[in-house]
Amino acid sequence: MRLPGASPAWKAEDTTNSCALVLLYVESAQTLARRIEPLPSGMPNSGQDQFRSPREKDLADLYRLDHEAFGETDGYTHLVLRQLFDAHRRDFLLLKRDGVLCGYALPVLGAREDHACLLALAVLPEFQGQGCGRSLLNAAVQQVREAGARRMELAVREENHAARGLYKKYGFRDGELLTDYYGPGNHRFSMSYTMD
Ligand SMILES: CC(C)(COP(=O)(O)OP(=O)(O)OC[C@H]1O[C@@H](n2cnc3c(N)ncnc32)[C@H](O)[C@@H]1OP(=O)(O)O)[C@@H](O)C(=O)NCCC(=O)NCCS
Repeated sequence: MRLPGASPAWKAEDTTNSCALVLLYVESAQTLARRIEPLPSGMPNSGQDQFRSPREKDLADLYRLDHEAFGETDGYTHLVLRQLFDAHRRDFLLLKRDGVLCGYALPVLGAREDHACLLALAVLPEFQGQGCGRSLLNAAVQQVREAGARRMELAVREENHAARGLYKKYGFRDGELLTDYYGPGNHRFSMSYTMD
């Protein structure tokens, strides 16, 4: 069984999610031991937006959300989502707006102490264009910053204008085209954000 915490490296081809990792190594128990707390201080957990980490019973909703946002081709399989949940449950950020689970982000610390990767960011189609993506991205950056990260990296489809627009507006810089990143013909574009 391929458990991220048990294998020497989490391979890129294990997922086709378009926002997945640039360089993620879940190397050892040490890495798992420095998992970050679910809710950094100052997280806006009142009013219309609420952030929390997922519970076992959220997995089915999370799968649906991910597939509605990414579609069948790029959505995580049940297997990958389960593995990410088992290894990174406390890193996930679920966003509830007005009581509805409308989006999620998965920021994780990378192989280098001060680097983080944004493995996923998704908002339900009917909630898009209302600031949920920005709110999740901000919470994701805040979470890894509090855990010691100074740089966040991600990989995105070059033609994903909504996501690239969001990242650019937030302050991410364009990187390079990652040819065949998820296998032959499946390219991505790298972007990175340096924290103050
Ligand atoms: C990308 C995504 C997360 C954005 O979430 P969202 O809630 O719609 O984004 P927001 O409403 O917070 O928008 C924030 C900024 O993003 C940019 N943006 C959002 N939608 C955009 C679009 N369709 N085209 C261009 N820029 C867009 C804008 O700069 C916007 O700021 P503005 O409203 O001040 O102009 C969402 O479209 C989504 O889930 N897409 C499918 C999954 C996906 O592609 N995830 C990212 C993978 S790397």
